[in-house]
Amino acid sequence: MKILAFESSCDETAVAVVEDGRNVLSDAIASQVDIHAIYGGVVPEIASRKHTEVIAALTEQALKEANCTRQDIDAVAVTYAPGLIGAVLVGLSFAKSMAFGLGVPLIPVHHIRGHIAANYLAFPELEPPFLALAISGGNTLLIDVRSYTDMEILGATRDDAAGECFDKAARVLGLPYPGGRPMDELAQTSAGGVYKLPQAHVDGAPLDLSFSGLKTAVVNLAHHAEQVGEELDRGALARDFAQAVSDALVPRVVEAARLAGRKTVVAAGGVAANSIIRGDLERACRENDLRLFMPPLKLCGDNGAMVGAQGYYEYLAGHTAGMDLNAYATRDIAE
Ligand code: KG4
Repeated sequence: MKILAFESSCDETAVAVVEDGRNVLSDAIASQVDIHAIYGGVVPEIASRKHTEVIAALTEQALKEANCTRQDIDAVAVTYAPGLIGAVLVGLSFAKSMAFGLGVPLIPVHHIRGHIAANYLAFPELEPPFLALAISGGNTLLIDVRSYTDMEILGATRDDAAGECFDKAARVLGLPYPGGRPMDELAQTSAGGVYKLPQAHVDGAPLDLSFSGLKTAVVNLAHHAEQVGEELDRGALARDFAQAVSDALVPRVVEAARLAGRKTVVAAGGVAANSIIRGDLERACRENDLRLFMPPLKLCGDNGAMVGAQGYYEYLAGHTAGMDLNAYATRDIAE
């Protein structure tokens, strides 16, 4: 079954053709990162406009690269939530018109389910159940993935997402947007151990997380250094910051897997590209006898193939939608 898949929830327009949920025939991406970098973050209105400009041509490109005609397409999958509402709406409207025009089913895909499904593309042997750590620009979630479409959130951030926190810390260190990767590179230049940063705990909810205190601590450190004319050890701060994020995430992953009785752990989302988090996850999973799957770096960020992968399993579960399908800025992954 060939699925034409659309992703437009943030600042990448992505269109892919995926066969039977696992085989990527094409994966075309138009990134807007350079445009938003001028503003130091994603400008929602610009994101929507850019999606509108490129989505038709990108669809032609994805079909061509997959050696497909429109008639070869069996279904259309699309990210319908969560994300920037105007941005999601562009992809959704285009996907609807495509499904309607071709007379094929329309499959709604939750963006974070898509991130998790990126692993199905990289690892043919991977099947649920497993414990997923989804860490992206807008979400930080510990999810018990019981089946391809049955999921339960076991822990979540109470405030900022891990990626948002990386981006804000990067900005005060003078690094470009999006800051996760440059922060990662800067962190490699130091062994850290210089700055003591806070770790938050949520009373009564040991698997929940909070990153806003950590973010504020880094902002305050940078502003204080500037005010008193002190030289900041930027490499050490980047390293200690990444370590603090990793120390918040990794033990909770192990604990969540234990509580859910899972022996497999899957990482997903843009922040899953972070080298310190990847290293710590590998170590912790080895020590706790857990099998770990982490997507290759190119499948960590937003892409259309992941939507096509999850779309296949949503279709098998009977999850299709009519032309009244709406876009949502927020939506529970379990719905
Ligand atoms: O999954 P993603 O591409 O988009 C969303 O769905 O949000 O994640 C983007 C986030 C950004 O905050 C970016 O700074 C972060 O992932 N990121 C990283 C790294 N590469 C990307 N964060 C930490 N370390 C990295 N190497």
